Parts: sequence; C-alpha cells; structure tokens
Amino acid sequence: KKDITILAIESSCDETACAIVKNGREVISSVINTQIAIHTEYGGVVPEIASRKHIENINPVIKKALADANMTWDDIDAIAVTYGPGLVGALLVGVAEAKALAWALKKPLVGVHHIEGHISANFIEYPDLKPPFAGLVVSGGHTHLIKVLDYGEYEIVGRTRDDAAGEAFDKVARAVGLGYPGGPKIDKLSKEGNPDAVQFPRAHVDDAPYDFSFSGIKSAVLNYINQAEMKHEEINRADLVASFQKAVVDALVSRAIMLAKESGLKKLAIAGGVAANSCLNETLRKECEKEGIEFYSPSLLLCTDNAAMIGAAAYYEYIKGTRHGLDLNAVPNLKL
Ligand code: KG4
Ligand code: ZN
Repeated sequence: KKDITILAIESSCDETACAIVKNGREVISSVINTQIAIHTEYGGVVPEIASRKHIENINPVIKKALADANMTWDDIDAIAVTYGPGLVGALLVGVAEAKALAWALKKPLVGVHHIEGHISANFIEYPDLKPPFAGLVVSGGHTHLIKVLDYGEYEIVGRTRDDAAGEAFDKVARAVGLGYPGGPKIDKLSKEGNPDAVQFPRAHVDDAPYDFSFSGIKSAVLNYINQAEMKHEEINRADLVASFQKAVVDALVSRAIMLAKESGLKKLAIAGGVAANSCLNETLRKECEKEGIEFYSPSLLLCTDNAAMIGAAAYYEYIKGTRHGLDLNAVPNLKL
C-alpha cells in the first residue's frame, strides 16, 4: 500500500498553520504561527487583523513546513485545508491558498471540517486509537459531545445552548482582568486558588441531559465581582477563577462520563483548546479510571489550533474519496 502524504493548511482563527502528515498518523512537520500577542492588545481576536496577518504569514509558514520536512512538492499527494467553521475572512486566506496550490501543482484538494480536525488530533497522539469512541470537543467556539462512529462519521449527542466552554473562560478572564486568551491564564491562576471557595451553579438543560449551558455560570461570576465592588470588598482572584473552572469542569466531566458509560463505548477522547486544561484532564483521567473507561487526551500543541490535526482528518477523507473542486468556499458556520 502506497503512503499518502498530505500538506494541510489551517487559518480558521488566529493561528496560521501548515503541516505535512503521512497516512493520517505521522507528523513529518508542523508549523504554527500564532497571532496571540497581536490580539492580546485588543482583549480578543480582531477578525480584520487576523485575515491580514494570515495573508502575510501563509506563504512563509508553508515554505517552512516543506523545509522542515526536507520535502519538495513532488512528495505531496494532496492539499488539505480547513474550510469551516471559523472567521470567514480568516478561512478564506487558507482556502484561496490551498485552491491556488492544488490548481498550479495539479494535486487533489480536500476540504476539512475544523472540528473533525480537533477530534483527529487524537489519531496522531494515539496511533492505535480507532473509532468508535465518545468525544468531547471543547474549544473557543464549540462545545460538543459526540459519538465518533467511524472515521468522518459523527453523531452529535449534546451541545452548548449558549456560550462555548472556551468562550466562558475567555469572558471570565477578561472580567477579572487576566486578559486574552483566558483559558491558559485561568488554568494557571486556579492552581493557587480554592475551587470550593465560591459555589457557582451547575446548569442543566431540561429534557436534554447531554446539553451544556455556560452563560449562567459566567453571569454568576460577573455578579459576584459587581457585588464585591459595591461592597468595596477585595476579591480573591485565584479562589474565584478556581471555583469558576471547577463549575465548568464538573459540567463537562459529568456529561462526558455519562456518554462513555451509557453508549457502551468505554473510550473517551477529548479535543479542542479547552482540552489543554489541566483540571479537566486530571478530573477526567480520575473519573475514567474509576469507571473503567479508556481516556485519550492530545498533548498541548495538538489541542489548540494546528494543521497536523487537519492533515490527520484529511487523510481519512482522502481515502474515502473526498475531493473538492476549485469552487470550494469558506463556510463560517459549517455543520459537522
Ligand atoms: O481550539 P482552539 O485553539 O480554537 C478554537 O477553535 O476555538 O481553542 C481556543 C480556546 C480559547 O477559548 C482558550 O481560552 C481555550 O481554548 N484554552 C483553554 C486552555 N488553553 C486554551 N481553556 C482552558 N484551559 C486551558 N489551559
Ligand atoms: Zn480550534
């Protein structure tokens, strides 16, 4: 069987990334140019700036991925690109680049769903992992509980009704003055705080046991801060964010474990930027062990946005025969 080497491009948010991945599992090279430092100044991702930076960065990032792999275009079997969901102007840069390359080099083009990419990060981290398994996707824009039935075949079992988990982290971090991106900062500060100091609501959605709601927890944190200010009381930021983090983690863990158990899948893989959270990882690892569930968690650099995960997802699409034409467009709200 011939090896399939895919060059993958990711530009859906504020990372310009390119990776070369062999047979969906082996990362030959992976380059990530993050714009976090630029957007930090504005307290969040500014879409217009993200698009401009992608345009500046994309060619050097691709060149570096090829150079790091010690490869030329002759070694590449297909071009893959994230075409949604994400910021439309950011996605368009990657999509236009991938189409231009596919056309000029006469190579097949494979469009990839960003969330499918996040899930596929697990295939890189765990070369022996095969579907079916339960998946928890938690990122800045998404919170999904899914059954991964087969490669590229998903059943969404639960989703957030309001804020995504990462969005809640980012908003709370801004409110307590920690800045952007909030997730890693809250993660770090929480280690110094008492997670039981403040009781925040564990919201559930009636008749939808697998759905999430994080706006209630976020509002409770904002109320807590406002009340303290009115009473001129000092707040203990570490205690506050540790308690918030625990509330979010509890909501994620209880439902993920419930799915892994009730579905009989007995395997749980997490994915997305929030999957890098240390409290979420530790709690899930413990609970999975207790319940006899195998737990899969990608390393830090595979959790947050990268192109290696897109190359992994693209491989399984490629061998199924998925090919996109030069009419491929960015789809900001692409469904899984
Ligand atoms: O997957 P990702 O890089 O981009 C999207 O597709 O959204 O996820 C970014 C999100 C941000 O909201 C960020 O605050 C969050 O992931 N995040 C974390 C951690 N690291 C990143 N949240 C909690 N704990 C972390 N350690
Ligand atoms: Zn992402």
